[in-house]
Amino acid sequence: AQRKQIDEVLALFQLTREQLVGVQHKMRTELEYGLKRKKGKFLALDLGGTNFRVLLVKIRSGRRSVRMYNKIFAIPLEIMQGTGEELFDHIVQCIADFLDYMGLKGARLPLGFTFSFPCRQMSIDKGTLIGWTKGFKATDCEGEDVVDMLREAIKRRNEFDLDIVAVVNDTVGTMMTCGYEDPNCEIGLIAGTGSNMCYMEELRNIELVDGDEGKMCINTEWGGFGDNGCIDDIRTQYDKEVDEGSLNPGKQRYEKMTSGMYLGEIVRQILIDLTKQGLLFRGQISERLRTRGIFETKFLSQIESDRLALLQVRRILQQLGLDSTCEDSIVVKEVCGAVSRRAAQLCGAGLAAIVEKRREDQGLEHLKITVGVDGTLYKLHPHFSRVLQETVKALAPQSDVAFMLSEDGSGKGAALITAVAKRTQQSWK
Ligand code: BG6
Ligand code: GLC
Repeated sequence: AQRKQIDEVLALFQLTREQLVGVQHKMRTELEYGLKRKKGKFLALDLGGTNFRVLLVKIRSGRRSVRMYNKIFAIPLEIMQGTGEELFDHIVQCIADFLDYMGLKGARLPLGFTFSFPCRQMSIDKGTLIGWTKGFKATDCEGEDVVDMLREAIKRRNEFDLDIVAVVNDTVGTMMTCGYEDPNCEIGLIAGTGSNMCYMEELRNIELVDGDEGKMCINTEWGGFGDNGCIDDIRTQYDKEVDEGSLNPGKQRYEKMTSGMYLGEIVRQILIDLTKQGLLFRGQISERLRTRGIFETKFLSQIESDRLALLQVRRILQQLGLDSTCEDSIVVKEVCGAVSRRAAQLCGAGLAAIVEKRREDQGLEHLKITVGVDGTLYKLHPHFSRVLQETVKALAPQSDVAFMLSEDGSGKGAALITAVAKRTQQSWK
């Protein structure tokens, strides 16, 4: 009887030829499945630039093709500067509208969150807001994990579930988007509403992280360069006035000299001063000129366009409510030119610093590197990109720096990162 029991157990291990052939076939199917291109659908949020966007990104890894659908939503000023709960409820409301619009209600998709503010990032899906920058000032968010805030808002709404996989800065999203096509792309630059740069650093140089092999992406948050006073020697009284009138005085000093949100304000401060000195607008400071934010980047870009006759400059100023003579328009154009040129040069000097560092760190005579770039200032201003590139060339002459415009914004990069993070997550399970 004992023998029988033993034989029964052993019999379980005896496979027939058919069973083995079955295994063989299944193995073949799985192996081939592993080689097949996979389609993935991801949601992405893009918060912190001119526009707030919700995106659906479809990635087909086999063909390296990416298709995107997106919708721009407004974030009213009272929400940007209201409570954190209101802000995140609004974001979730926009996601709900988008899912509805795409006919995806009820789908549980992985989501990548491009959140373009300084964060302390503890893991791929955990980022604590250090402080708001640019035009945001929602309460109760600083020191909080933005992914948690988003998850809680989704819970409050109780209508759908999303799998938030990654939180990404726009510089990183931009670098990833460009890196998908150009493996030399190891720097991401944003010259838009705000200014920032990220790059790939050797792990051995990062004291905060263990390990010596490989590289890691560093979000420099260089907008805050100078907050310790180290560039005060080149800050003018106008820069200081812009800083004092901003939402975050004393912070983001380099950003306030180099990015779209502030250039128009610097111009306005100069115009006020020149008017006070009787050098402009017949010495009359109009109510308009006293109004904060009238000079958006797009006006600077128009005014500085080479094709524009002075008469048209005058017309733009009139549209802004500034009554100018022909001489006034010449001066205004010169002021805009000086401010945007300095911005591009400062940004170029920053970039040259990182390019030279990368070249020296790798012990190279000559470095070839690509910078992925995005942002309205870089894209729309008639001279900014050229001056920036000239400056990099002059200050980092031993390197060959290519600039690659990110065509689809950083939402695509966020989705790519989400796709990879999702795979890693699955392989851990
Ligand atoms: C967009 C990116 O294209 O550029 C955003 O998708 C980014 O993530 C933005 O913040 C920066 O440019 P701007 O000028 O809109 O601030
Ligand atoms: C601000 C943000 C930064 C962002 C940049 C460009 O500097 O702090 O995170 O990358 O703007 O949008």
